[in-house]
Amino acid sequence: MRKILVAYISRTGMTEKMGNFIAEGVRMAGHEAEIKKIAEIKTEKELKGFDGYIFGCPTYHRDMTSGMKTFLFLAQKANLTGKIGGAFCSYTHSGESGSMIYDTMQHVYKMDLADLGALNLKEHTIDTQEGIKACQDYGKAVAKKF
Ligand SMILES: Cc1cc2nc3c(=O)[nH]c(=O)nc-3n(C[C@H](O)[C@H](O)[C@H](O)COP(=O)(O)O)c2cc1C
Repeated sequence: MRKILVAYISRTGMTEKMGNFIAEGVRMAGHEAEIKKIAEIKTEKELKGFDGYIFGCPTYHRDMTSGMKTFLFLAQKANLTGKIGGAFCSYTHSGESGSMIYDTMQHVYKMDLADLGALNLKEHTIDTQEGIKACQDYGKAVAKKF
C-alpha cells in the first residue's frame, strides 16, 4: 500500500470538502491518504515519507492564495521529482488556481502527474452526487498511477 498526501488551503470549507472526497477516492483505490491543511506544514521535512501528492487551493482574485504560493516554494525543497500527483480547486466563475498548481508540479517539480489535468469544480457542484463522484474518481485516477 502506498501513501498519498492531500494538502489544501480553504477559507470557507469548499476546497476542504473536495480534499476529503479526493482522499476517499485514494482509499477506494486501495491506498492510504493523509489529509492536511497547508498552514500546518511548516518545513519541507513534513513532506517526506509520501509516495504521491495532491495539492488544492481555491481561486481568489483569479489567483491562488499567497499561502499557497509560499507553500509551493517550500515544496520545491522537498524534491518531488518523479512522484505522482494532482491538483484541485473550488471556484465560482474563473477557477485558475488548480491549473496553476498543476503546472508547477509538472514543470517545476517534474512530477509524474496523472494525465488528467487539475480537478476544478464550481463550488455549488461539490456537494452533489456528481461532484462527490468527480472528486473520488480523481483520487482513484491519481492512485492508479502506482
Ligand atoms: C473576494 C473573493 C474573490 C473571489 N475570486 C474568485 C475568482 O477570481 N475566480 C473564481 O472562480 N472564484 C472566485 N471566488 C470564489 C471562490 O473561489 C469560491 O467561493 C470557492 O469555493 C472558495 O473556496 P474555499 O471555501 O475553499 O475557500 C472569490 C470569492 C471571494 C470571496
